[in-house]
Amino acid sequence: MSGQFWDETAFQTLFAELGNIPLYEVYELTRPAVPGELIHGISILHSGIVGNEYFMTKGHYHVVLETSELYHCLSGQGVMVMENLDGEWEILELRPGVSLYVLPGWAHRSVNTSPTEDLISLFAYPGNAGHDYGTIETQGFRKLVINRSGSPAVINNPRWLAPTERL
Ligand code: PA5
Ligand code: NI
Repeated sequence: MSGQFWDETAFQTLFAELGNIPLYEVYELTRPAVPGELIHGISILHSGIVGNEYFMTKGHYHVVLETSELYHCLSGQGVMVMENLDGEWEILELRPGVSLYVLPGWAHRSVNTSPTEDLISLFAYPGNAGHDYGTIETQGFRKLVINRSGSPAVINNPRWLAPTERL
């Protein structure tokens, strides 16, 4: 997660304090990488803050852009941050019992907005989807979810680079 949070110094300080304790854990049943299979499992995103950003997953596009993903929140509270290559973005709430569909072609990242609880979700995606982390590593997401006086707020990512600005 180095380089993913806006406040890298806060991340490094926390990393030094926590050592190897992960911000999140993913347990999945790996299936053959073919379209007819569903890779599925559970992600556990712990509660915490880096600078003023909530703990979040790294986030990714699927390598096969035409593939989607289903999430179902089992416990905790948070949001799913999504965007696509056409410049559209959406942030949807995750709370227990909510199912959320990530459309084909949309990058996705979950964010835990609870001050105390893990955000636990079940997910499933096609076996051939693959994970493209590079695009998000390079440009980040357009929107950040931050803690503003104890409540979640959405802001523009000051470091987001449009593809044409990257050269
Ligand atoms: O496939 C998914 O979208 C999830 O299983 C994620 O992989 C999981 O939430 C961890 O996020 P990331 O892969 O972005 O680190
Ligand atoms: Ni995914």
